[in-house]
Amino acid sequence: MAFSVAIDGPAGAGKGTIAKYLSERFNLKHLDTGLLYREAARLVIADGGNTLDVVRLEEIAQKVDTHHINEENLRNEETASVASQIAVVPSLRRVLTQKMRDFASSVSSAYQGVVLDGRDVGSVILPQADVKIYVTADEQVRVLRRTKELGSVAMQEILEGIKARDARDGNRQTAPLQIADGAIVLDTTFLDTKEVCEKAAEIVECALSNCEAIDNMSKTSSCLSKK
Ligand code: DC
Repeated sequence: MAFSVAIDGPAGAGKGTIAKYLSERFNLKHLDTGLLYREAARLVIADGGNTLDVVRLEEIAQKVDTHHINEENLRNEETASVASQIAVVPSLRRVLTQKMRDFASSVSSAYQGVVLDGRDVGSVILPQADVKIYVTADEQVRVLRRTKELGSVAMQEILEGIKARDARDGNRQTAPLQIADGAIVLDTTFLDTKEVCEKAAEIVECALSNCEAIDNMSKTSSCLSKK
């Protein structure tokens, strides 16, 4: 298994930004696992929008092609909401989880490894990951970030969407959002993008050179703590 980095956290915490940065800096192949749920959601909506037919949902999940996802149409609140609703279905999760593991295990030797971000990467998809980071931030800060990112969507709508998704993603029975065993918690509330990326890079550097340093770093840094 190639070197692997697992990044989890709630919406708007900054995990996507961190994953992209680490991917470029350390030559890691990146998979945003939320995109697979969003692509499944897009297919569900196109299929009539029934989020309760678990047999059909599993069939739809099989159609998600990890290597051909058009991100552009998926970054909207409706798709995000349906993604979170169908993500409670265990059979759909099983199919998508397998696709994510296949992605991670088939990374070519042109890369140093993989970085996956999502909700259950460190706990379920890659529990043996070399580095696990749980990214978090205050709800208000996350809402502000998403509002800036989405531009034309009202802040109230984003706040309601994030609240609903946090509750659903954190309380579902199968693979809920949680701090995975061994994850380092990175609170990005008071950090700008550059600082967040540097902190995450420090963690990966440590893992690549000397894993013990991660323990020391997490004890001494005010914004890093290990579970
Ligand atoms: O990260 P995102 O906002 O694109 O994810 C959309 C939804 O997909 C999220 O609300 C829950 C689901 N998801 C999941 O259950 N497990 C993952 N590993 C990634 C996303």
